[in-house]
Formats: sequence, structure tokens, C-alpha cells
Amino acid sequence: MSQIVEVGPAHAAVLAAMHGLVFPHEPWNEAAFATLLQQPGALALIQGQDGFLLLRAVLDEAEILTLGVLEKRRGIGGALLHEGLCRLRAGAVRVVHLEVAASNAPARALYEKQGFMQSGLRKAYYHDGGDALMLCLKLDPPGGPS
Ligand SMILES: CC(C)(COP(=O)(O)OP(=O)(O)OC[C@H]1O[C@@H](n2cnc3c(N)ncnc32)[C@H](O)[C@@H]1OP(=O)(O)O)[C@@H](O)C(=O)NCCC(=O)NCCS
Repeated sequence: MSQIVEVGPAHAAVLAAMHGLVFPHEPWNEAAFATLLQQPGALALIQGQDGFLLLRAVLDEAEILTLGVLEKRRGIGGALLHEGLCRLRAGAVRVVHLEVAASNAPARALYEKQGFMQSGLRKAYYHDGGDALMLCLKLDPPGGPS
């Protein structure tokens, strides 16, 4: 299995290709990834061409922008998320936010397993009328709670 590596704007096309396969109804193109990856605090991790995670940190908060894997239930999504959270924890980030469709049981289970808690609800947030859940995770500083 490939290692998880951090990538930058030079990998925008690779990220867009994977994103289009995971999210065929809402693909992000290469230019969108290139723009996101040039922003301060952006962090993109990939595992070969099997999965991707994109985060953005601002001061002590971060947001998970997108996460996906091409072959599910092989531990790739969990490994990407764990690695991303470790990197955020090692930096200055103390809280991580994300939104997930209420109907997305696999993603909700993944985030719950990593300790995310619901922090809000956006009713009828998506085009299909589905609700979005706001989740957040507090990160202890390296070495434990202060
Ligand atoms: C959500 C997603 C990234 C999970 O990736 P994955 O590689 O399949 O997940 P993993 O194999 O690492 O699973 C880690 C944990 O997540 C949970 N999980 C993942 N898929 C699950 C499923 N279908 N049903 C129940 N729990 C699931 C389990 O707790 C699992 O731990 P376990 O294997 O010990 O039971 C993947 O399903 C995906 O790409 N979905 C489409 C894109 C998407 O929805 N992204 C998130 C948008 S917010």
C-alpha cells in the first residue's frame, strides 16, 4: 500500500482526477485545487491514487474541506484523517470543523470514530434537500491537555 504524502499545487490535477471519481456529481477541477492549495494553511494529503484529504488551517482552527477514497473499507480514509489530525495537533490547531450530509452514514461513522461531535445542523442544506451536520473535534496540544 502507498504511503501517505503531503502534496502541493503541482498535484492539483491528480487531486481533481480522484475527486471527480469520488464525487462525480460535484467534481472540483484542477484550477479549484490549485487555488485552494496556494492558500495559507492549506494541507493536502494523498495515499497514492487511492485517496485524498484536503484541510485548511487558520490560526488555531482548521476545516476539513474534502476527503475521499476510491476503494472503500480498506482503512485509507481513516489513515488519511488520522494523519491529517496528527499534523494539525502538532501545529497550533486546537479545533477542527467539518460538515457532512446527515445521510452519509460511512463518513459519519468515520468521523465519530475519530472523536468528532455534532456542533450544529443545517436543515435542507444540500440541493437534494438533505440536511448537513456540523461536526467538530477539539485537539489537545502535543503532550496532553494544558
Ligand atoms: C467516508 C470515506 C472517506 C471512508 O473511507 P474508508 O477508507 O472507506 O474508511 P476506512 O476503511 O478507513 O474506515 C474507517 C472507519 O470508518 C467507519 N466506516 C467507514 N465506512 C463505513 C461504512 N460503510 N459503514 C460503517 N462504518 C464505516 C468505520 O468506523 C471504520 O472503522 P472500522 O473499519 O474499524 O469499522 C469513504 O466512504 C468515501 O470516500 N466516501 C465518499 C466520499 C465522502 O463521503 N467523503 C466524506 C465527505 S464529508
